[in-house]
Amino acid sequence: QSITPLSTPSMDINTDFALAFDIDGVLMRGGKPIPEAIEAMKYINGENPYGIRVPYIFVTNGGGKTEQERCQDLSQQLEIDVSPGQFICGHTPMREMADQYDTVLVVGGEGEKCRVVAEGYGFKNVITPGDIIKTRHDTTPFRKLTDDEFRDSRIVDLDKTQIQAIFVFADSRDWAGDQQIILDCLVSKNGYLNQRSETFNEGPPLFFSHNDILWSTSHEHSRIGMGALRASVEALYKAIAEKDLETIAFGKPQMGTFKFATRLLQEWCQKSHGIDKLPSTVYFFGDTPESDIRGTNDFDKVAENEWFSILVKTGVYQDGTDPRFAPKEICDNVLDGVKFAVEREQ
Ligand code: G3P
Ligand code: MG
Repeated sequence: QSITPLSTPSMDINTDFALAFDIDGVLMRGGKPIPEAIEAMKYINGENPYGIRVPYIFVTNGGGKTEQERCQDLSQQLEIDVSPGQFICGHTPMREMADQYDTVLVVGGEGEKCRVVAEGYGFKNVITPGDIIKTRHDTTPFRKLTDDEFRDSRIVDLDKTQIQAIFVFADSRDWAGDQQIILDCLVSKNGYLNQRSETFNEGPPLFFSHNDILWSTSHEHSRIGMGALRASVEALYKAIAEKDLETIAFGKPQMGTFKFATRLLQEWCQKSHGIDKLPSTVYFFGDTPESDIRGTNDFDKVAENEWFSILVKTGVYQDGTDPRFAPKEICDNVLDGVKFAVEREQ
């Protein structure tokens, strides 16, 4: 990707700090920007009393589109240029698993978008629930493919196809059907859907791109998300197989995501701001105590620099309640948050 050099790089010289933004509930709600978010972006891009431009990245648990497409959307919504070089979504780290698994079941998201993402990551044979229903329409008794889904789904020879891993890339649009298919894979013999295991311990591993039980949308109350699907699949597995299912979640609050964010930030500071050194402090703005604040605080304990958690009141966290994981600072919204961070650095 091409990165436009800043016209006035000298403005960055004194910034030994950087910012990391969660998206839903901090910058966006229900596909629309939170009003203060646009102003906050201007503020950190030079429109502040000190004339400084602060490096920043985005770390969202959301997903379902290529990083490129999501950055184009964000650029429009926030009225700034957002590059994939400063963006991590829940499934971004999954790209590092593409050389471990050839044939994978990819679940979630709109239409074919997640298949496109997974193929872009290098997974060779990406199967969707739609492919399985197309080949065996009675897999999900009450879910019929739409004409578009039928057209886009592929023919798979279920006798010969071995699903080596299951990845939930984005929120399911059809919980019942997707859960049925995930469970069929989990209780299969070595990932062959047409063969059922007698011991229920031969199924492929199941990965979720994050574990948020709740997330912030345009509705006044938080909505259930992928973490809820995870809990549900685990409970169903226990009911059917009579044993616990161990699944793996990426995203925040996992330390791997924060390590990935550190690498991304360091590269971004270098490429876009000519800063070679890792910023001494990274301010992380989040709305979900369980993922944003917990992850930032935990990472702060092991990171070589300071990670400073700021909780905003525009998303999952409800003003007046005690957050389950205490942030270093609580701000009304992201604009107040960035002002606080910039002031703290002066
Ligand atoms: O599905 C996305 C949601 O769970 C959280 O997104 O941006 O708040 O990490 P975000
Ligand atoms: Mg959020």
